[in-house]
Amino acid sequence: MPEVSTAIQARTTAENLQEKIRSRSARVGIVGLGYVGLPLAVEFARAGFEVTGIDVSQTKADRVNLGDSYVGDVPEAILKPLVESGKLRATSDFSAVRDLDTINICVPTPLRKTKDPDMSFIDSACQEIAQYFHPGLLVILESTTYPGTTDEVVLPMLSKSGLKAGEDFFLCFSPERVDPGNPKFQTANIPKVVGGVTKACTEMGCLFYAQALEHVVPVSSTQVAEMVKLLENTFRMINIGLVNEIALMCDRMAINVWEVIDAAATKPFGFMPFYPGPGLGGHCIPIDPFYLSWKTKQAGIEARFIELAGYINGQMPHFVLSKVQNALNDAAKPLKGSRVHFMGVAYKRNIEDVRESPALDLLLLLEQRGAQVSYSDPHVPALRLDGRVLQAEPQAIAAAADCVVIVTDHAAFDYAGLVRQAKLIVDTRNALKGFESGKIVRL
Ligand SMILES: NC(=O)c1ccc[n+]([C@@H]2O[C@H](COP(=O)([O-])OP(=O)(O)OC[C@H]3O[C@@H](n4cnc5c(N)ncnc54)[C@H](O)[C@@H]3O)[C@@H](O)[C@H]2O)c1
Repeated sequence: MPEVSTAIQARTTAENLQEKIRSRSARVGIVGLGYVGLPLAVEFARAGFEVTGIDVSQTKADRVNLGDSYVGDVPEAILKPLVESGKLRATSDFSAVRDLDTINICVPTPLRKTKDPDMSFIDSACQEIAQYFHPGLLVILESTTYPGTTDEVVLPMLSKSGLKAGEDFFLCFSPERVDPGNPKFQTANIPKVVGGVTKACTEMGCLFYAQALEHVVPVSSTQVAEMVKLLENTFRMINIGLVNEIALMCDRMAINVWEVIDAAATKPFGFMPFYPGPGLGGHCIPIDPFYLSWKTKQAGIEARFIELAGYINGQMPHFVLSKVQNALNDAAKPLKGSRVHFMGVAYKRNIEDVRESPALDLLLLLEQRGAQVSYSDPHVPALRLDGRVLQAEPQAIAAAADCVVIVTDHAAFDYAGLVRQAKLIVDTRNALKGFESGKIVRL
């Protein structure tokens, strides 16, 4: 009776893993120890699991093993004791997979220059995992990606082992929603959506996250879970595109867009404020929607909102450039040869991440037009720009600039001092709300 013995075997594999997860004796692996992976590894270690982080970067693995955090949301005071107590360790050696019971994949999913998905990180992580694959593993992909990736890309790679998903191993997608620098919502208290390739996979994934995170939200498939993340980020990208277009309109009509948004936000229903800015930044909002538009193109649907919002958001650095140029012209200074100082280069306030930051585009645009650029950013001591490294300057240097541009509204800046000392300020973030001065030019 082979069916019966297979069923017993399947129950045993699932039950064994459930038992290990419930007793927190399951050995947890996190592949990719970046902004997403390291906080996740810390949460599971704090929940009492033994966690192994695997990263291709030996430097990152070494730093984790020293308890030396390189992610703003992971304080050393939390990381170090977990490392010292043996709850968390890191390696660049994938053979560690042999001893693991669960694996979360948190590797990058950037775009190629052509705006096509770059799946090479997911591919290579899965190939490495496949080498050491064994029965009883729960694998969860967390990297943001197009709908279908888990079933069409990851499942075939892991199934080459001959093992069966939902019986011999368990495979899910669970989107990561971490918001770096958010003091209220972090890995542990952001609800976690989970979709498995089978019902048993979803249940296993939910059981796993429930040990360390406060809320788990099961959905019916991996595709739904993948699409959830793309809906969330596309929603943000398009609404930011809309409000950026409203800002361009307001500028033309000499209306203060910030005042408009604040007043609109008093409506207690049916409106959610989004704010304009110098352009999109970070590893998510400028990138993820293009994973969706790439996939839907194959289904014959043009993602027109995404393309349009991408275009408008992409114009914002040029709009800020024209603001700087006009402000200098009004002060009888040509842009060429002027000293332009940036306050902030990170892609958003109070964090150190400069990936896709609009500051990078804007610095280059200004340099190409002959401006001399410099920057202050307490979170970014050095900045790689076009093959060079710029060093952050103290805020005091802003007083000597012909024009200061507030690109990132870090809380650490002394805005009152800036308004007193600077000659001319282009404020792209409404950081100077409440200050009245003829030298302030707002977006
Ligand atoms: N940063 C965010 O705010 C955020 C939020 C939600 C979702 N995400 C998504 O999560 C995923 C990870 O993003 P991140 O910001 O943590 O990226 P990251 O670049 O900070 O970290 C990724 C890590 O993976 C490592 N890595 C690369 N290839 C690897 C491989 N083959 N094997 C093992 N390690 C490998 C890198 O060395 C790096 O340490 C992306 O898909 C991203 O879109 C990010």
